[in-house]
Amino acid sequence: MARLKVGVLISGRGSNLQALLDACGDPAFPAEIALVLSNVAGAHGLDRASAAGVATQVIDHKEFPSREAFDAEMDRALRAAGIELVCLAGFMRLLSVGFVESWQGRMINIHPSLLPAFKGLRTHAQALAAGVKLHGCTVHYVTPALDDGPIIAQAAVPVLAGDSEEDLAARVLAVEHRLYPLALKVIAEGKAYSADPKLSLLNPSV
Ligand code: GRF
Repeated sequence: MARLKVGVLISGRGSNLQALLDACGDPAFPAEIALVLSNVAGAHGLDRASAAGVATQVIDHKEFPSREAFDAEMDRALRAAGIELVCLAGFMRLLSVGFVESWQGRMINIHPSLLPAFKGLRTHAQALAAGVKLHGCTVHYVTPALDDGPIIAQAAVPVLAGDSEEDLAARVLAVEHRLYPLALKVIAEGKAYSADPKLSLLNPSV
């Protein structure tokens, strides 16, 4: 069976990338990472990819006159590598509408909250401030609105009395590392459900 060719976009630490690399290291896993792209030179995730023998490329957004020009360069790199699905994994740039639309149904993100709660940044601080007892992470399709696309999978963790933002972040991150490979597997096997057929391009049978 041909494995789904995945491109991962990162900006930093790359612990979710590592979870995906580990999963894809199993030849029986239905996806393979063909390219890791970073907008930040020296991002730790680039070392993780190289250690796993995966091709990397740095495209520095500061070298482009506009968001659209930067996104166009990423698009070229992804298509040149034959990428079929893009995984955002701690990629800290907003994407232009044109880029998102051209990958719609073929681009997913992991967000550290139980969406639709707590979009944007500082999600663990938001959860603590709201006093919720359950928090977690979400893998979703990327649409032009931030952290808003159809949900593919979620994992929940308890919020415990006395939790700091760091305590909660660590508890959520541990489940992110389990959820992202699981969601990727479900998509690569054509079993991810979305009510919107435009967002299920990899799942024509659904
Ligand atoms: C993770 O918390 C992820 O949910 C969010 O950015 C963080 C990236 O961490 N989108 P890492 O680079 O994968 O370690």
